[in-house]
Amino acid sequence: MTAESTGALAGKVAVVTGSGQGLGLAYASELARQGAAVVINDVVQETADRAVEMITSAGGRAVAVVAPVGTTEAAVALVEGAVAAFGRLDILVTNAGVLRDKSLLKMTDEDFDLVIQVHLRGTFTCAREAYRYFKENNVAGRIITIGSPTGQYGNFGQTNYAAAKAGIVGMVRTWALEMRKAGVTANAVIPVAATAMTETVPYFRAAVEAERRGEPMPDFFRKDLGFGTSADVAGLVAYLASDDAAGITGQVIGAGGDRLQIFSHPVPVVTEYRAGGWTFEALREQFPALLEGNLQPVGEKMPPLPEELAPQAS
Ligand SMILES: NC(=O)c1ccc[n+]([C@@H]2O[C@H](COP(=O)([O-])OP(=O)(O)OC[C@H]3O[C@@H](n4cnc5c(N)ncnc54)[C@H](O)[C@@H]3O)[C@@H](O)[C@H]2O)c1
Repeated sequence: MTAESTGALAGKVAVVTGSGQGLGLAYASELARQGAAVVINDVVQETADRAVEMITSAGGRAVAVVAPVGTTEAAVALVEGAVAAFGRLDILVTNAGVLRDKSLLKMTDEDFDLVIQVHLRGTFTCAREAYRYFKENNVAGRIITIGSPTGQYGNFGQTNYAAAKAGIVGMVRTWALEMRKAGVTANAVIPVAATAMTETVPYFRAAVEAERRGEPMPDFFRKDLGFGTSADVAGLVAYLASDDAAGITGQVIGAGGDRLQIFSHPVPVVTEYRAGGWTFEALREQFPALLEGNLQPVGEKMPPLPEELAPQAS
């Protein structure tokens, strides 16, 4: 018997955007391994075809729909592609992404717009079409969006990406409210893994090289940093897509290497009242004391690399 008829996702159909390679391909492969039929989406036909071939040769069911996500037309094509190939849609994973990193003064309008278009608008348009389908067809669907540590903490050189990824988390909290009655869940996964997107970062070099040699990544990366392979994140995506996760919505969950994290939602750390409101003078007098010990950090705190894992100057 194949996973298709016996797995936890047997009978379900998934669309995974940007799944020709990297994390998206790992998500699609795991969804297929758990029994779902998958629509592979990417911008290059050969990349998408190769992914389909990988999944089908492992016994799964997959088709390719090549379209750059970001437009309503692409979102409609994906939902229609799933229905045409497999008769229905149950799961949407909005993973497609690009980077155009530059510090603020160097970032052009085009750099900003492209990243917003693919990540934020791509997530919005695909989720809207999937939800329309779920509602019209009475499907308790699953929307799994992809955030980033950058959207949670901010990161130098990533104005566009931070805006898009923080925006995705904001949309998820909104959709959890709007979709609850229809039994549809919406969550955000915050992945960290060695892919084309991260392999050029010197800090991760020793981990990426270990993976290329087919060796396990050093514990420092897997445990202390929560940085591993794409496959390490895929189990969480498949779990959120399953019936087991019916009650989980509006959540932001990190996965990477050996680490799993549930992120808190923003809550005030200080709440103070002053009769008549907070005038400039009152703030001048009282704000420093209120701030004391409550200043919030920015940026992700990365532990220093152990010397033996530091990139060698080449
Ligand atoms: N790698 C990490 O550690 C990490 C960390 C945080 C978030 N992410 C997020 O995970 C997702 C996948 O990243 P990855 O590391 O696998 O990167 P990747 O570059 O290996 O894969 C991204 C895929 O998306 C495709 N793509 C780009 N624009 C597209 C479009 N308009 N329509 C359809 N497909 C498009 C690319 O062709 C590529 O195949 C992204 O959303 C990324 O921001 C990754």
